[in-house]
Amino acid sequence: MQNVVMWIVPVLCLIALPCKDVVVWSAMILGYGLHGRGYEAIDTFNAMKLAGVKPNDVTFIGLLLACNHSGLVQEGWEYFHRMKDYGIEPRHQHYAIVVDLLGRAGYLNEAYEFISSMPIEPGVTVWGALLSACKIYRNVALGEYAAERVFSLEPFNAGHYVQLANLYASAGMWSHVRKVRILMREKGLSKDLGYSLIEINGKLQAFRVGDKSHPRSREIFEELENLERRLKEAGFVPDTDSVLHDLNNEDKEEILCNHSERLAIAFGLISTPPGRTLRITKNLRACVNCHSATKLISKLVGREIVVRDANRFHHFKDGVCSCKDYW
Ligand SMILES: *[C@@H]1O[C@H](CO)[C@@H](O)[C@H](O)[C@H]1NC(C)=O
Ligand SMILES: *[C@@H]1O[C@H](CO)[C@@H](O)[C@H](O)[C@H]1NC(C)=O
Ligand SMILES: [Zn+2]
Ligand SMILES: [Zn+2]
Repeated sequence: MQNVVMWIVPVLCLIALPCKDVVVWSAMILGYGLHGRGYEAIDTFNAMKLAGVKPNDVTFIGLLLACNHSGLVQEGWEYFHRMKDYGIEPRHQHYAIVVDLLGRAGYLNEAYEFISSMPIEPGVTVWGALLSACKIYRNVALGEYAAERVFSLEPFNAGHYVQLANLYASAGMWSHVRKVRILMREKGLSKDLGYSLIEINGKLQAFRVGDKSHPRSREIFEELENLERRLKEAGFVPDTDSVLHDLNNEDKEEILCNHSERLAIAFGLISTPPGRTLRITKNLRACVNCHSATKLISKLVGREIVVRDANRFHHFKDGVCSCKDYW
């Protein structure tokens, strides 16, 4: 199959675009890379070579992205080193993708050595990629080192501190998690000013994480508990790993059920007749956990729930979401 594609692509290309140049080829490869279609990108690269076109730096960004998305560590590594055969100087972006590729595959020390060998000053995306890989593999020592570099380059970006806190949380180091939170407070950084809005009878209601300020707060929390129980009975297991925990409280599950959209959903359920669609707006991206819970809630309560988060619309209905879990 691969061979057929290898031959068909260049033949079709020759027919369709006789004077296809490096820009067109690179755009195709980059397109495949960005969409995570690793093998198509590589086939296209091979076709490009057969057509006698010399790749440029964008071609390699596409290829490296493609290898990263498809987890092709060896291939990505080789393509990176092949750049010099074409006289192309790797840019920061190329390095960042290779670090991400190595790190995600668990080659943390190799990623670190790779960074150390860089002829240009590694920037925030390079160190950030190492930091998030350290979180996946719970490598606290290396992660702290990467975090220091990241903080020195961007001292006021709350997202980086959250990354470090997540690393500590993944390793169960709760006292360190709390220290990061204190550090953030001292610097006046706040992690998530997450809130959700729901409109009921023409009136907008806003909820924050764990919000107890609403006049019907007691009923809202009763409804939350009720939902939580039904989710558990339906076999729902919260993913306690992927979310930054409320650092004042060590009971992860409890906090995970308190995200603002959950409060908005609970309030919507107790304030509207059965079957009515709930429409919620959230300023941040929905977390994995709330997303899975909301799918199941839509089924359990027999309602459509529409959530517009920072990225897109989610239509939850009968246990599935319109985004097909891609957001
Ligand atoms: C590498 O691939 C992963 C998994 O598909 C993706 O989440 C990540 O954003 C990619 N990294 C880069 C630099 O594109
Ligand atoms: C939400 O958080 C509060 C503490 O802030 C806790 O008492 C409550 O049980 C939590 N609710 C749920 C449903 O976990
Ligand atoms: Zn959430
Ligand atoms: Zn969705």
